[in-house]
Amino acid sequence: MSNKLILLSILALTFGCLALAYEPAPLQDFCVADPSNSAKLNGVACKNPMQVTAEDFLFSGLHLRGNTSNAVGSRVTPVFVAQLPGLNTMGISMVRIDYAPWGLNPPHTHPRATEILTVLEGTLQVGFVTSNPDNRHISKVLQKGDVFVFPVGLVHYQRNVGNGNAVVIAALSSQNPGAITIANAVFGANPPIPSDILARAFQVDNSLVDQLQAKF
Ligand SMILES: *[C@@H]1O[C@H](CO)[C@@H](O)[C@H](O)[C@H]1NC(C)=O
Repeated sequence: MSNKLILLSILALTFGCLALAYEPAPLQDFCVADPSNSAKLNGVACKNPMQVTAEDFLFSGLHLRGNTSNAVGSRVTPVFVAQLPGLNTMGISMVRIDYAPWGLNPPHTHPRATEILTVLEGTLQVGFVTSNPDNRHISKVLQKGDVFVFPVGLVHYQRNVGNGNAVVIAALSSQNPGAITIANAVFGANPPIPSDILARAFQVDNSLVDQLQAKF
């Protein structure tokens, strides 16, 4: 093989594998989710296309404010494949996030999606952290109309830095982005991660870990 061919083969393999890490391109117009079908596959089985209606592509209610009366002062209203069956196989979804004054959407990651967010109301401090070893913290204060992107898999957060409510709409590049909230995953694991493991990982006393584990 010539060098050029070898290079092309490597490129093809590389991009072939990258493509597999994301949701596959649809091979039909749509595959409306049929949650009643118990077939185990990557996604949800398709409803008979002849029985699909406009309702399968519709979600109503994203104008409604989420209830932010909770410990962190924010609420995510998801429009994922579970709420909108027409999203199945489409590689996209949406959320509304409401924030009470000074409310926080705590540090979390989406294992399967990049997120693009726009502020409809309020002022938000947002940020994400790059992977090891740099762990660079990239942050910004956003005003109404600003659009910010959180790259797939990176830990990110948003905080309302105003005395009024804040609202955003965000799109995510998966029908089912998943969320791992760092505090809950680390200190609220069920069954718990042994506290001496966390004490060593965080370089603190066991008693502080016990305190954190009791909270989550
Ligand atoms: C909001 O959530 C709180 C805490 O769960 C609950 O007490 C309250 O009734 C809820 N408010 C509304 C309007 O649903």
